[in-house]
Amino acid sequence: MRSLIDIQELSTDEINELIAVASDIIDNPKKYSEVCHGKKLATMFFEPSTRTRLSFESAMYELGGNVISVSSAESSSAAKGESVADTARTLSCYADIIAMRHPKEGAPLVASMHASVPVINAGDGGHNHPTQTLTDLLTIFREKGRLDNMTIGFCGDLKFGRTVHSLISAMSRYSGVKFVLISPEELKLPSYVKRDILRKNGCEYKQTTDFEGVIPELDILYMTRVQRERFFNEEDYLRLKDRYILTPDKLENAKPDLRILHPLPRVNEISVAIDNDPRACYFKQVYYGKIIRMSLIMKLLGLEV
Ligand code: CP
Repeated sequence: MRSLIDIQELSTDEINELIAVASDIIDNPKKYSEVCHGKKLATMFFEPSTRTRLSFESAMYELGGNVISVSSAESSSAAKGESVADTARTLSCYADIIAMRHPKEGAPLVASMHASVPVINAGDGGHNHPTQTLTDLLTIFREKGRLDNMTIGFCGDLKFGRTVHSLISAMSRYSGVKFVLISPEELKLPSYVKRDILRKNGCEYKQTTDFEGVIPELDILYMTRVQRERFFNEEDYLRLKDRYILTPDKLENAKPDLRILHPLPRVNEISVAIDNDPRACYFKQVYYGKIIRMSLIMKLLGLEV
């Protein structure tokens, strides 16, 4: 039995295989419509979510399976003090696989140690969000036709952004990928990510505050939200939240085949005037999120067509 807590648990071959199955699902959806018949997914979300929870649920339904759901800590016995370990043991009696989001870093790992079914980390605090990373990789692959030899810019909150840390970790495995890290000084990528991932893998990277200046270099621009919920004081959040806003004028010298990604939710960092630009990919990314989760559920349940 296998869980997925951190993107680093997947080998590059396994990531490529998940992407290949996802591409086949896109081309032949009917082939997969009964593969999870008789199986149940439990979604246990102790932090707000629209895309991750509903894409997991939609993915399971499209595979012919069923879903049971806990959509907040308040509506479950966690509110009475039940531990993550006991909740995981309990859900194992009801479901074949669990997707869990929790504000505490490491909670899905604890759940996986006590569950008797696979646990998927659907986001733990500022730590990891491996299925968003798989979503991002599938989006980049479908849009660019490759995962190597490109320049990818990350903009916004690179300090607390778990999607940024996981995607950097995944992209650092592919050759010829250059990283451009665009953030205010206070929200720079943590030193451990630079040391343990970028420098360790010999990746080329640069840090800058000059958003407009680097846009023409980019093949992928990964925008992120400054996350109010990760700040200790409101004053710092208000000072930093609108530092980088992508508006049409900033794309004047961008490559015609640039692709703009965002894990969403968006607050103010991408103007709605960009939404109809063919380079904007963030709503396609939402669709790819459902497809890659179908592929992952099948893999962790050991199902093939
Ligand atoms: N991208 C993402 O995790 O979105 P939700 O918070 O809506 O699930």
